[in-house]
Amino acid sequence: MEPTNPAGLPEHIPTHVAIIMDGNGRWALARGLPRLAGHRAGTENLRRIIEACIEFGVHYLTIYAFSTENWGRPQEEVQGLLHILEDVIDRELQELSDQGVQLHHIGRLDRLDPTLQKKVLHAIEYTRENNRLVLNVAFNYGGRDEIVYAIQHMIKDGVQPENVTDEMVSQYLFTAGVPDPDMIIRTSGELRGSNFLIWQGAYSEWYFTPTYWPDFDKEQFRLALEEFSHRERRYGHVSETEGDLAQHA
Ligand code: FPP
Repeated sequence: MEPTNPAGLPEHIPTHVAIIMDGNGRWALARGLPRLAGHRAGTENLRRIIEACIEFGVHYLTIYAFSTENWGRPQEEVQGLLHILEDVIDRELQELSDQGVQLHHIGRLDRLDPTLQKKVLHAIEYTRENNRLVLNVAFNYGGRDEIVYAIQHMIKDGVQPENVTDEMVSQYLFTAGVPDPDMIIRTSGELRGSNFLIWQGAYSEWYFTPTYWPDFDKEQFRLALEEFSHRERRYGHVSETEGDLAQHA
């Protein structure tokens, strides 16, 4: 059994947690509310999970807020999600900064309107000295798009094929400098990766829960961390105990 620290937390807290915040629409539907009400409830929940990350000692949190495919949703929902991003920056930037949150964006900013682009860049600049939690907001993000973008930039920079390494590719991604996610959580019972961190998640531990994102509270998050601490990460090797047995055989 994994030892726990005095706060009742598992000893091995992941450095980087990434979350696919799924189920907002179904959460709203179940209450007879419009889908956007689900996204607003999801945004409220994000606040709780940010606080929990700070409390539990998670240093990086990456959230999938809007994918490159989400432009295909009804216009009203797309506009609503863009508005939520703007609203979060307008209303919450100071509080997030006071909490020690450093904001980053991953994905392509260029499809957002110039005013919103400026706000995002300002929020990143405003929080760059903070160091309690790095919050990567994936907005207009797609894992394949990110890899295509990286390849285009490597070619533009004249990188020779024989010099392309695993580490170099990582440095050309939007997440350059950020450690790979230790754990990726997907709420709402869907069992897919949906084009999220497909390079960075190569060895991440996945955690799936049927809970819709607005209901995925601090206690459920703690349970996810506990489950993570019981996982043995083998990175393609054999388990430690098997390795020991083999050595002594
Ligand atoms: C997936 O649920 C959720 C999204 C596509 C949006 C998630 C966005 C937020 C929680 C807002 C936070 C945003 C920012 C900018 C900080 P779904 O709509 O696919 O749910 P469903 O599968 O039940 O329909």
